Amino acid sequence: MQTKPVGSEIPEMARLTITIAQTGETFFCSSAMSVLQGMASLGRKGIPAGCHCGGCGVCKIEILAGEYQCGLMSRAHVSEDEQNRAVVLACRIRPQSDLLVRVVGKMCKSVCR
Ligand code: FES
Repeated sequence: MQTKPVGSEIPEMARLTITIAQTGETFFCSSAMSVLQGMASLGRKGIPAGCHCGGCGVCKIEILAGEYQCGLMSRAHVSEDEQNRAVVLACRIRPQSDLLVRVVGKMCKSVCR
């Protein structure tokens, strides 16, 4: 298990810590970045580098704790009910506080190993 969050290039004042519930891993993200951009700093193969615009649905996560801003997401990938339960696309949200997230869907294979 990793003890120090990756993403140290983010200025200290802007750093928010994102924790992945399934693994306990953490990474830094700023409120100006999407959670998916921050997650890419984990350096895992298979973290989607494709659409980054809410169109493909592979980066689905559930926010278990924390505040975030949410951009538009395709209803084909996140239903209104899911969004109300804080199931969102990592590429379309920006953290506003430290977050605890659970990776769901296809990206779990890459992140949760
Ligand atoms: S990367 Fe395609 S929806 Fe997030």
